Amino acid sequence: MATVRTKRATAKVNLAAIEHNIKILKATAGVPVLAVVKADGYGHGAVPVALAAKTAGADWLGVAFLDEAFELRNNNVPGPILAWLLDESDNFAEALDQDIDMSVSSISILQKISSLAKVRGMNARVHVEVDTGLSRAGVALDDFENFFAEFKNVSNIELISIWSHLACADEPKHPANAMQHKNFEHALAVAASHGLKPQMRHLANSAAALVHPEFRYDMVRCGIATYGIAPGGGLSDASKFKLKGVMTVVSQIAAVRKLKVGDGVSYSFKWTASKPTTVGLIPIGYADGVIRHLTKTGSITYKGKQFPIVGTVCMDQFLVDFGDTEVSVGEEVILFGDGGLSAHAWAQQVDAIGYELVTRLGNRIEREYVDGVQ
Ligand SMILES: Cc1ncc(COP(=O)(O)O)c(C=O)c1O
Repeated sequence: MATVRTKRATAKVNLAAIEHNIKILKATAGVPVLAVVKADGYGHGAVPVALAAKTAGADWLGVAFLDEAFELRNNNVPGPILAWLLDESDNFAEALDQDIDMSVSSISILQKISSLAKVRGMNARVHVEVDTGLSRAGVALDDFENFFAEFKNVSNIELISIWSHLACADEPKHPANAMQHKNFEHALAVAASHGLKPQMRHLANSAAALVHPEFRYDMVRCGIATYGIAPGGGLSDASKFKLKGVMTVVSQIAAVRKLKVGDGVSYSFKWTASKPTTVGLIPIGYADGVIRHLTKTGSITYKGKQFPIVGTVCMDQFLVDFGDTEVSVGEEVILFGDGGLSAHAWAQQVDAIGYELVTRLGNRIEREYVDGVQ
């Protein structure tokens, strides 16, 4: 078997495409855009993505955890940043000192933030998440009344926004959309009945920003669309919205082997050659984020054509059946992105979603930032 040491794989991240997508989202939504850069910018690199998004006019940045917000500030990312998944043990003091907006849905956390703000002689910038039907985080529907009644009595707090998150925005006709919209309006009305007037209201993720004008309110929070990936569900074609894919993952053929009829391939011999063929070894595996279920259904792109992944995907490598096609060690293959399948289409091969694919890419895959026009 001819083997050479190859560069294992590279995720090329096109920052010009991030800028393009933010501009499209701003133009489409017609309201301020919060670019979601949690989970290391959906695996693309939070700091470079945040800076590119800001350059293109993103008004806000959003992350799940405070540590993710601190990473942005520690790398000199300016402007408003909202962190929305807080718990009692978080460093609220540092968040105040680093000018991070915090989302709360618990009075006890609110009180802690209020005391810290009081000591600093400031008002903390706070957003309230209300649960309108996702049954995840946020003030529960039954607690709206009590929560806002108590909220108004807590000092040193500036109510920046009331917001919620949708469950089925990628299914435009799903009845949950109308139900959540109604509950959101109810939350705003309850807050107003206590004299609370948020500066902003926001409900839309990427899917809603793209197709539900009535959910855009005063800001949209766009994650997956920032990265040019389709939200999925009923919205499976990002290019329909003029969004451009940002990440392209390429690898190289690390070894080539000729097989005869009956030769087994990889663990458990889940595939054996039914005719003489050539397989190529691709030197990344499930530890790098290549989904193991691609074993039977996945493919890669080589010179513009799809070739099937055969045999079990291993931790560090997998095999491709090139049939009669002559291939050589060192030649490039595309997993997904420019020149190959889109991230969404690649993930769909195993009923996964583009979100999973990009956020799971391991740190053994080098990120290379390119700024070219696609
Ligand atoms: C609260 C919140 N808002 C917005 C988003 C962005 O969603 P999407 O990537 O579908 O745009 C997320 C992502 O999960 C989220 O958790």
